[in-house]
Amino acid sequence: MKVTICIGSFCHVKGAPAVIAVLQRLVAENTVKVRVELAGEFCMGQCQSGHTEGVNIAIGEEIYDVSPAGVEAFFQKEILPKVS
Ligand code: FES
Repeated sequence: MKVTICIGSFCHVKGAPAVIAVLQRLVAENTVKVRVELAGEFCMGQCQSGHTEGVNIAIGEEIYDVSPAGVEAFFQKEILPKVS
């Protein structure tokens, strides 16, 4: 499963490096049951809508708004069940 994290400047300021670091750790810790490809992409166009609180992450067509503090919950809810 491909998980794409926005690395545009707005999302960078909102904590993209921290979000990526936590996701990398979680993927590594769950390597037996998780098959996840992490990728980066420049601005997904969501920040201009004014609704972005955190970092935009895309899984397929779905885009999520994830703060650094919410990464673990996001991983447990949106990634782990789909790849276990
Ligand atoms: S910089 Fe991330 S959606 Fe624009």
